[in-house]
Amino acid sequence: MYGNEIKKILVDKNTIAARVRELGKRISEDFKGESITLVCTLRGGCVFFADLIREIDGDVEIDFIAVSSYGAGTSTSGEVKMVKDLSEPIKGKNIIIVEDIIDTGVTLSYLKKLLAAREPKSLKICSLLDKPSRRKVEFEGDYIGFEIENEFVVGYGLDYNQKLRHLPDVCVLSPEVYGG
Ligand code: IMP
Ligand code: MG
Repeated sequence: MYGNEIKKILVDKNTIAARVRELGKRISEDFKGESITLVCTLRGGCVFFADLIREIDGDVEIDFIAVSSYGAGTSTSGEVKMVKDLSEPIKGKNIIIVEDIIDTGVTLSYLKKLLAAREPKSLKICSLLDKPSRRKVEFEGDYIGFEIENEFVVGYGLDYNQKLRHLPDVCVLSPEVYGG
């Protein structure tokens, strides 16, 4: 189904959908009777985000933020930049940051610190994927879809040089693509 740039499907769309339903259910239970603002991290989190918010039962608002840590290629530059800030203040609100993947942990620890300084009532992290073996800074998410090995993945929002985000499954990129 996919071209040569894809080595294999790592998590197929049905498995993703089932897990997203579970995460949505857990979040709905954890925040029963409370309002929640779900924050989509652009651009990688957008597909996961769109699916997740529809699995949450409750009083939900959404907002968007963009930070960038990657140059071109498959490794982080270690430097995080704010590209687009939230549209609304978050003081006193229950905030869940929705990310595509926790890799070195650099991006999310920056983002968490930045938003924590605005004094939300609570601040949680939900990430579709987690690569714990790649951490450079200590960081733990609160809601994780799948723990994966140290392989570069694309699809379901995740990109390689801004491409392949539209693939419905999470796929392993062929190492030949990036000269690995
Ligand atoms: P971190 O700061 O190293 O944790 O990197 C987080 C960001 O790097 C994610 O939001 C992704 O945009 C990107 N990233 C990390 N690993 C991958 C991968 O395997 N495929 C695509 N993007 C990735
Ligand atoms: Mg990202």
